[in-house]
Amino acid sequence: ARMREDHVRTLADLNAVIAAAEPFVTGGTRAVLGEGPLKPSLAFVGEQPGDQEDVQGRPFVGPAGQILARAMAEAGIDRDACYLTNAVKHFKFEPRGKRRLHKSPTAGEVRHYRWWLDKELDLVAPKLIVALGATAVQALTGKALPIIKTRGPFDFNGRAGFVTVHPSYLLRVPDEAAKREAYAAFVEDLAAAAALAR
Ligand code: URA
Repeated sequence: ARMREDHVRTLADLNAVIAAAEPFVTGGTRAVLGEGPLKPSLAFVGEQPGDQEDVQGRPFVGPAGQILARAMAEAGIDRDACYLTNAVKHFKFEPRGKRRLHKSPTAGEVRHYRWWLDKELDLVAPKLIVALGATAVQALTGKALPIIKTRGPFDFNGRAGFVTVHPSYLLRVPDEAAKREAYAAFVEDLAAAAALAR
């Protein structure tokens, strides 16, 4: 596969390679490709497609994507002007009855997908990369870093970046007041990232 990847010149070339590749994680029926314009102010990197993303074949269309869209709007960010993608291109899951339970990718799985993400970001060339959560940070730095401590502007090996939480984390905060606070902090992060990319 690497041989063919050497000939990748455009995002369309890269997407063709990704779409044709076997999933490297258990589950995932199809690759979910990044979406959005080239040379955007902001590119968002998530973890992996979820159930809805796998069904629809588009990134951030499920519950986490809806929170992200709402937060972007509140932060004054035009979602259509941003590039959205994931560290891992396939949905990793475990069947549980009729449901498909999300499984976090291992460090090795994240590493496997890194070449693609790196190339993708070269080709998309955003002004600033927003890493959503630990998997994105792992993919962008090669390191396991604590998100809450790392949160804020961040240099991803020479690329301007910003670290924040994953929107699905906001769905899991159990206490209502804490959830509202976490969401407000997320909106603030997005606004700060947008200001840096201006
Ligand atoms: N969570 C992600 O990290 N990415 C998606 O595309 C959807 C949910």
